Amino acid sequence: MLKILVLVSGGGTNLQAILDSVREGEITDTQIVGVISNNPNAYALERAKTAGVAAQCISPKSFGTRAEFNEKFLEAVDSYQPDLIVLAGFLVVIPPAMIAKYRNQIINIHPSLIPSFCGTGFYGLKVHEAALARGVKVVGATVHFVDEGTDTGPIILQKAVEVQYGDTPEVLQRRVMEQAEWKILPRAIELIAHGKVYVADGKAVVVE
Ligand code: GAR
Repeated sequence: MLKILVLVSGGGTNLQAILDSVREGEITDTQIVGVISNNPNAYALERAKTAGVAAQCISPKSFGTRAEFNEKFLEAVDSYQPDLIVLAGFLVVIPPAMIAKYRNQIINIHPSLIPSFCGTGFYGLKVHEAALARGVKVVGATVHFVDEGTDTGPIILQKAVEVQYGDTPEVLQRRVMEQAEWKILPRAIELIAHGKVYVADGKAVVVE
C-alpha cells in the first residue's frame, strides 16, 4: 500500500481528482494519509475534510524565519511517514532537506509542457497568460519528480492540449486541468503505486 501525502495551496481540484480516482478504483493500492496546506483558507482543506482525510495547515507566516518553518514543515511531513509526497498546486518552495530526504519520492503537477513555460515565476494562471502571449498552439501539463531546481526534475508523464481561438487564460487553464492535469496526476500515482516508475541516468522511466 502506497501511503501518499498531498500538499496544497488553493482550490484543490487536483487533490479532488486524486480523491475521486482512489474512490473509483482508478488509483489502487494507495492510501491518502494526509493533506497539508500552507494557506489556512485553501478550499482544498474542505475537500480533504469532506473526504474524511486528515488535513492541517502549516504556514510560513506563522514562523519568525524560513529556517524555522522548514524545520517544522519537515517534522509535519515526517509524522505521516509517507511513501510519496504529491504537490498538487503547492506554491511553497520545498526545503532542500526535504528534497534530499525524499529523493524521487516527491512529485509535482505543472500546468505546461516542461521545458516550456516553467521555472521561477511560472505558476497557476501566469503559465497560461504566458502561453497565450507567445501564441503557442499546443500547451499541456507535466508530472515530474521534484529536485533542487524549479520544475527541473525527471519528467514522468506529459499530456498535450490544443489552444483554441479566443481562449482566455482562465478558459485555457480549465481545459488544461480537465484534459491533462486531472488525468496524468492520478495516473502517475497509480504507476508509482505499482512500481512502474524509476529514475535512471537522471530521467524517469515508465514501464507500462
Ligand atoms: C494547477 O493548475 C497546478 O498545475 C498549478 O496550480 C494549479 C492548482 O490548482 N501548479 C503550479 O502552477 C505549480 N507550479 P488546484 O489547487 O485546483 O489543484
